[in-house]
Amino acid sequence: MKIGIVGAGSIGLLFAAYMNGLFDVTVYTRTIGQAERINRNGVRLVKGAGPLTANVRAKALGTGPMDNDLTIIAVKQYQLESVLSHLPAKGALLFLQNGMGHLRLLEQLNVEAIYVGSVEHGALRETPDTVSHNGAGLTRVAVFRGSPDLLEKVASLLSDTFPMKLEPDFYEMLAGKLAANAVINPLTAILGVRNGELVENPRYEKLLEKVFEEAAAILGFKDPQDRLANVKRICRNTSENRSSMLKDLDAGRPTEVDAILGYLLDEADDREMAAPLLRAFYEMIKGKDSNGRESC
Ligand code: PAF
Repeated sequence: MKIGIVGAGSIGLLFAAYMNGLFDVTVYTRTIGQAERINRNGVRLVKGAGPLTANVRAKALGTGPMDNDLTIIAVKQYQLESVLSHLPAKGALLFLQNGMGHLRLLEQLNVEAIYVGSVEHGALRETPDTVSHNGAGLTRVAVFRGSPDLLEKVASLLSDTFPMKLEPDFYEMLAGKLAANAVINPLTAILGVRNGELVENPRYEKLLEKVFEEAAAILGFKDPQDRLANVKRICRNTSENRSSMLKDLDAGRPTEVDAILGYLLDEADDREMAAPLLRAFYEMIKGKDSNGRESC
């Protein structure tokens, strides 16, 4: 089965390393330089199942037709619009973005099978061809449109090495992950701590619970205690990991704060709900975010 992976950041490289061998994998990079490097060296996985080298194929996105059974889109949500025009009209697509703002873009796509996923692994891109698997979790996947057949096949092939759990309801699945990202990402980014510290330090844990309460109310969770337990489990599973928002701020890259907290605050405004902590964290991240310097 041919698998395409668009985006060669930490998540794209992690998927490439674990899927290689079971599938015929092509990675689509932003730059020709990164594609050449991956074609020369393969993708190196350190930690997790590594050390290993996955000899996958790489091409710069937009430099040729894409012909895959499944194309996995592993770019950040704010990069999504720029890659959509390159995606194939045939085959299935799996989107792995944090947040929920991208769902409105997926509605407009003319593809038969669209899946969405939420990644609960900790990963760090060490170099353009090397990824460190810092926290083994799982990938939850769900059907957004079309038949689940292909997704079931992929999940069953990966079951021993890189678990993929098929969830019945994409909205519920993404809402659960959104709550986790709304809590873990801004707190770790502002406090400058690893994910695990949020549950190791009792004061941070209390703060995590308060922030979660606001997100859970906006998302209307019927099972908030189970959801909170899942957020804490993600913190423990990815204990050594620095969240994507912390890494983005440190690297001077834009963050996904609009896709995560911005989305929740829009929902809160629509329903006239107060969310003082989420609002405060949004402003703090925007103030530090390279985007924040441009707009207010
Ligand atoms: O955005 C992230 O960093 C990840 O989604 C997660 C699972 C919180 C791990 O750091």
